[in-house]
Amino acid sequence: MTAPVSPLLSSLAAYPFVRLEEAKREAAARGVELIDFGVGEPREPTPQLVRDALAAALGDTSRYPLAQGLPELRKAIADWAGRRFGVALDPETEIIPTLGSKEAIFGLAQAVLGGRRLVAVPDPGYPVYERGALFAGGEVVAVPLLEANGFLPDLDAFDAWDRLAVFWVNYPNNPTAAVAPLAFYERLAQLARRHGFLLASDEAYSELWFESPPPSALQLPELTNVLVFNTLSKRSSMTGYRSGFAAGDPQLIAALRAFRPTVGTAPQEFVQRASIAAWGDEAHVEQTRARYRRKREVVGGALERRGLRIAGSAATMYLWVAVPGSETSESFAARLLEHGVVVAPGAYLGAAGEGYVRFALVPSLEECERAAAILEEVS
Ligand SMILES: Cc1ncc(COP(=O)(O)O)c(C=O)c1O
Repeated sequence: MTAPVSPLLSSLAAYPFVRLEEAKREAAARGVELIDFGVGEPREPTPQLVRDALAAALGDTSRYPLAQGLPELRKAIADWAGRRFGVALDPETEIIPTLGSKEAIFGLAQAVLGGRRLVAVPDPGYPVYERGALFAGGEVVAVPLLEANGFLPDLDAFDAWDRLAVFWVNYPNNPTAAVAPLAFYERLAQLARRHGFLLASDEAYSELWFESPPPSALQLPELTNVLVFNTLSKRSSMTGYRSGFAAGDPQLIAALRAFRPTVGTAPQEFVQRASIAAWGDEAHVEQTRARYRRKREVVGGALERRGLRIAGSAATMYLWVAVPGSETSESFAARLLEHGVVVAPGAYLGAAGEGYVRFALVPSLEECERAAAILEEVS
């Protein structure tokens, strides 16, 4: 008899992005030169001050990092949230550092599911909300993000509030690039308190904006039943460092403080020291925004001249582009791939993503310029 393996793992093997990887390999083997807007991983340089802080923090010995993180890091995060959102978070009770935000997003369901098992996740959306819920034995309900509703969930159409454990939101949004107003968080937080669920707000892209800085659920007058997740991955181009935080309701932060030592997912101390430098500096973030803004103009301009409609691009590093004519998102992406432009079909990100493709503006500016020239040619 073979050893048991979670049946969830075999269902994940069919992850649609595997198909995109195969299509890319085939095209490359046929000699097509690829410019990859498919996967949303930043390729910007990590700021020098962050690298220096990391190097300076490497010591002779190395101890287990504590789950609650260094007090200096919690204070640096609180100070940043104060400057950025005008809020006063208590570094002792309202903040916990995380190893990037992915593990914390995945692990949340394990720390909070119990009496209630239902988790609401956005569709289209980042797949980790759903996977975290499923591996914790939860049940998932997908909430569509429709253009007609500004890519916000229709709260009037949702009717499972009393069975709900967690409602995930993600603004600025991956993949639709939409931003949520503070009034939206306010209404959801009131629902969360009335019906006894947790509002989990993933704000990984809060610093990649182009017009005005988007609000945070941290700005709510009351944080009871609210948790916010943020990260240095996009803000400071530190994906490989793995550094983020969760902040909000002290009772929920206390639950994470109790849960997380068992999992052992505190960032290494030298990463925490580098993170203090990153949260304390805004100049590099402005430069990063300027680079994304330029790429957005180059690629977005070409798409518009080509007559394609950009359905969302208020913030994030994504362009959410409506598929022309009667094509599917997969066939349109396949057509662009033949010309070397790799994009993610919206349907791969959730059923409600059909009808759109996602451009992640991660290639270099020079590659974006080449892609723009190609896009203007594609018929
Ligand atoms: C919506 C969203 N949330 C969270 C993350 C996780 O980022 P990290 O684990 O690097 O903090 C990503 C990464 O792509 C993302 O797209």
